[in-house]
Amino acid sequence: MDRIEVRGTKSFRGELTPPPDKSISHRAVIFSSLADGTGVVRNFLRAKDTESSMHAFRALGTDITDEQDTLVIKGRGLHGLSEARDVIDCGNSGTTIRLISGVLSGNPFFSVLTGDESLRSRPMARVIKPLTRMGATIIGRDDNRYPPLAIRGGRLAPLSYEMPMASAQVKSALLLAGLYADGLTEITEPARSRDHTERMLPAFGAALTVDGLKVSIQGGRPLTPVDIVVPGDFSSAAFFLVAALVVPGAEVYIRNVGMNPTRTGLLDVLGAMGARIKTENVREVSGEPVADLYCTGGSELRAVDIGGATVPSLIDEFPVLCVAAALADGVTTIRGAEELRVKESDRISAIAAELRKMGAVIEEFPDGLSIRGAEALLPAEVDSHGDHRIAMAMAVAGLTTQGVTVINGASAVDISFPGFFGLLRKFSA
Ligand code: S3P
Repeated sequence: MDRIEVRGTKSFRGELTPPPDKSISHRAVIFSSLADGTGVVRNFLRAKDTESSMHAFRALGTDITDEQDTLVIKGRGLHGLSEARDVIDCGNSGTTIRLISGVLSGNPFFSVLTGDESLRSRPMARVIKPLTRMGATIIGRDDNRYPPLAIRGGRLAPLSYEMPMASAQVKSALLLAGLYADGLTEITEPARSRDHTERMLPAFGAALTVDGLKVSIQGGRPLTPVDIVVPGDFSSAAFFLVAALVVPGAEVYIRNVGMNPTRTGLLDVLGAMGARIKTENVREVSGEPVADLYCTGGSELRAVDIGGATVPSLIDEFPVLCVAAALADGVTTIRGAEELRVKESDRISAIAAELRKMGAVIEEFPDGLSIRGAEALLPAEVDSHGDHRIAMAMAVAGLTTQGVTVINGASAVDISFPGFFGLLRKFSA
């Protein structure tokens, strides 16, 4: 199914529960593996990305039983992991390789981490440099910049560190290493990135405090297991939200969506564009806010300017937001989003290239892009660039044309949203 056809539709209707949150699923496996005792993870995301974390911890000696979306994890404690007998393949997952690098930095054995072609081109100096300062030995390809990484962990000193970019993966890697350090590790971000680690680690008993943009963790405390229920992934729901907005007369109800405010920047931006999205039944699940969303199409969308500290709160939603912008009235400008260049693909050039094939008028900047909205997009043959979110964004764009859009590399959706195309078809029927 690497080549999929998406037909333009006049109707888009239905109810869905999005797949479980990817970021929270990764963290549930990692933190449970480090706890002293058995924990259960319910509604775990069964997708390629999160399975990379599961396989990595199995290779490090954690006993994980999986029955569909429920995992039972026998944690080995902070110091109970064992050396893997082979290279650990992190697949396409930046979260797996970066967070595990933090854990392995505190473990006195040898590890080699690698991944697919995309992961092997993603920047790792952002974790290697601070982890090396804490006392780990890490070397990577191309002058310590890219995977494969070879790590020999050991005794770690605490770190006081100002991060050069907002990144939850870097922040979490350093906090995990901080669990092993003798003293207080303090990490400050330039803008707030997603805070799932800060919410979940204290539930395991970690001595973690948050003060504005600074997160501190006291090393040396053991973790106790907790049972976790993973909420639905806002970033997956986002494709159906935007689809509902760009297909006239659409009506979509999305249940059990994670509403962590460090993740829902897209709702504010779509609101500013004129979208009508209702939030209902706000509740809390495992320390994370959750709600149901109701969205109807047919509003005239207006262009917006996006930049600054809001960028991290919608970092994974830019590909699909660009689709909304391509159909809005006016020119949408996105700046300060240079991190998009180092995601699963270079998402600035990927989305610009693919939307241009559908007739969009786009200017690229080093840190973003501007998109002149048009009345309609044209069907085309497009490419996912091996990136799940580009594949899904282009599928949403395809729904709005009067023809058939072909998406090459469509199986990339299995990274975070297996079953995406089936649901899309059901909603368009
Ligand atoms: C993630 C953090 C973000 C995000 C990624 C998942 C996480 O990456 O883009 O999809 O789970 O911590 P950065 O930390 O590189 O911004």
